[in-house]
Amino acid sequence: MANVNPHYRKLQAGFLFPEIEMRTRAFLENNPNVSVMRLGIGNTTEPLTPTVVAGLHEGVDLLARPETYSGYGDEQGAQALREALAQRYENYGVALDIEEIFISDGAKPDSANIQSIFRQDNAVALQDPGYPVYVDSNVIGGRTGGGADGQYEGLVYMPCTEDNQFFPALPGRKVDLIYLCSPNNPTGAAATLGQLKTFVDYAREHRAVIIFDAAYAVFISDRRLPRTIYEVEGAKECAIEISSFSKEAGFTGVRLGWTVVPKALVCEDAAPGELNNLWLRRQTTMFNGASNIVQQGGLAILSEQGQKESQELVGYYMANAKTIRQGLEGLGITCYGGDNAPYVWMKTPGGMPSWAFFDKVLDECHVEGTPGSGFGPSGEGYFRLSAFGHREDIERAVQSIQDNLTL
Ligand code: MLT
Repeated sequence: MANVNPHYRKLQAGFLFPEIEMRTRAFLENNPNVSVMRLGIGNTTEPLTPTVVAGLHEGVDLLARPETYSGYGDEQGAQALREALAQRYENYGVALDIEEIFISDGAKPDSANIQSIFRQDNAVALQDPGYPVYVDSNVIGGRTGGGADGQYEGLVYMPCTEDNQFFPALPGRKVDLIYLCSPNNPTGAAATLGQLKTFVDYAREHRAVIIFDAAYAVFISDRRLPRTIYEVEGAKECAIEISSFSKEAGFTGVRLGWTVVPKALVCEDAAPGELNNLWLRRQTTMFNGASNIVQQGGLAILSEQGQKESQELVGYYMANAKTIRQGLEGLGITCYGGDNAPYVWMKTPGGMPSWAFFDKVLDECHVEGTPGSGFGPSGEGYFRLSAFGHREDIERAVQSIQDNLTL
């Protein structure tokens, strides 16, 4: 007799983005002549750059010749790609051994799977609002009680609000796993070195582990801000970093990311090296590596020319972010983000509930955004607009909000 994993039954509603998609589809069924401008999910829209396209072609060509064909690749990912990533960290002033870098098919699966190497009774703290994968994966992992109103018993929610510039205070009780994301999805806030240091100091003191999501690091334009948590002294002893090529190079559908598990990382009952080994064990058991063609594309992204092109791509989306933020502020709406991150985090006018505002913007302006409450209870009363879109669609969306939103 088989039984389901009961923790799945605790999950509330659907995953945020399919839920939005469902509501938009229902709206379109009722309004078949309307075209909706999609600023909801952060989905890239611009084509791959020429250097990356050439890299992917090269990956195919290598497989087409007997002397260069390869089957399963190196377990942790192609050595050349890990070396190129280590060089990126070197440019940030951080030395990494390539055995500390694990290539994957993206930051989302890694940020969901990483919890599996930690004990089930570990207490988890998360930024609120935050990327829903952190919460849901820990619910599935059995680290929570039941849920109600978008919250789960047992999780420590760390509110990120206007009052703390969207960076949380340290948790009020001892926790073991801490999820941080900077630049932040959804608030767009990018943490300073000093802010990250407070958490690194806490984690080292309590032998806790920080799971740091750096998927938007390349969107940081303020050079004083850290682009990796390892810029903070001592972070290698207490932090895992997860990142991705999705947003930097338009790989949302191509899929390629990486996770850094330093050998110096420790926790309550693990000496240096053990967590690195456990993640290797997990990945080699449950994952057969990222596509070798795609990894060739990743190498192209990290080449000198590839980096120039991807910076242009990032610049394109960030110009969109500026258009969104200025357009909304022109209406007197309070906005955050959009300067070091591709998301604009706006306060709903009059404190309207996030989902009601979602319906209103869809209905009046034909623009899809993401309700802030979908990212956690402290997101209530906020709304996120993504800067990933064709320039003309972004401009049309902003114009439509300006012309049609009744305030
Ligand atoms: C988002 O829109 O928050 C993310 O882009 C979705 C994702 O990367 O999974």
